[in-house]
Amino acid sequence: MHQSSTIILGIESSCDDTAAAVISNGKVLANIIANQEIHKKYGGVVPELASRAHQQNIVPVVDAALKKAGITKNDITAVAYTNGPGLLGSLLVGSSFAKTLSIGLNIPAIAVNHMQGHILAHFIQEQNEEKEMPEFPFLCLTVSGGHTQIVRVDGYFKMEVIGETIDDAAGEAFDKIAKMLQLPYPGGPLVDKYAKEGNPDRFSFPHPKVDELSFSFSGLKTSVLYFLQKEIKSNPNFITENIKDICAGVQKTIVDILISKLLKAVEKTNIKQVAIAGGVSANSGLRNALKSLETHEIKVFIPKFEYCTDNAAMIAITGYYHFLENNDFSKNYTPNARLKL
Ligand code: KG4
Ligand code: ZN
Repeated sequence: MHQSSTIILGIESSCDDTAAAVISNGKVLANIIANQEIHKKYGGVVPELASRAHQQNIVPVVDAALKKAGITKNDITAVAYTNGPGLLGSLLVGSSFAKTLSIGLNIPAIAVNHMQGHILAHFIQEQNEEKEMPEFPFLCLTVSGGHTQIVRVDGYFKMEVIGETIDDAAGEAFDKIAKMLQLPYPGGPLVDKYAKEGNPDRFSFPHPKVDELSFSFSGLKTSVLYFLQKEIKSNPNFITENIKDICAGVQKTIVDILISKLLKAVEKTNIKQVAIAGGVSANSGLRNALKSLETHEIKVFIPKFEYCTDNAAMIAITGYYHFLENNDFSKNYTPNARLKL
């Protein structure tokens, strides 16, 4: 039935989501994610627990993806897996599974860079939908829990980081500030939720002074901490009474920093197509701010919500382009926790 199709099974296990997806000729047939609730009570991802949960989840998640896609393992053309960056123990679960499957089925195992995956998520197509995709070159603001980068994308695998954070990532800033506000991990989505109902102009926080296309978020974290300590001295209930406005102010500051650097990059490169990717691109403030840029003669690309945070469809689509470009996908790639773009 699927003989003329190129069917890629994607596996993602770099952090705390175990995910599997099936893509046929670039179109998604299934995209399954098992979140790991266990980390919530520790206020952050515990690597050892993440590896164990991946071990428990991987077979059922792959099984569910194949069922949802309506295929069997014998229909798979190649298996793509996340090779890094990420937590080594977590990466080992997905990569070992993928390599073993590839030997069992005598199909290629394709190592995928997770950050390339976030960017190439813009090329994922739905089954019954024609979608406009970015043309090369475009700029991609990649904002996740571990990265904040502006990437110049000249081809599927021709990417150059032209600006990045010198300290914390944007997602890390959201999560650490959320922790100060006594919100559970991961705090980013909760800050977003409260911010929607808050006044973004009541509390303002300073922008960092870093040059050109660099980002910095550690100063913001410190200024929020000092601000909270001062306010709590005169009102112990300050956080609970003002959570919406605090979140709105923090989110506005982070979004303004991100957008101002992105505009600087547009000016510098004269590239007028911009995209966002990574977990923080799920943020409603960032999505709205980017949409409003379209008035500046800039074309913007915003991924579907489910392709912003970690997922396996982005790994499968990246594997698909590796496959089409006949890139080297030897079975000897060892996972690399610090793999660069
Ligand atoms: O890409 P991702 O799922 O995992 C990494 O590769 O890091 O990104 C996770 C990050 C977390 O820091 C999380 O708090 C943040 O993305 N995030 C958000 C939102 N959804 C996820 N941050 C702000 N607003 C959101 N709606
Ligand atoms: Zn990610």
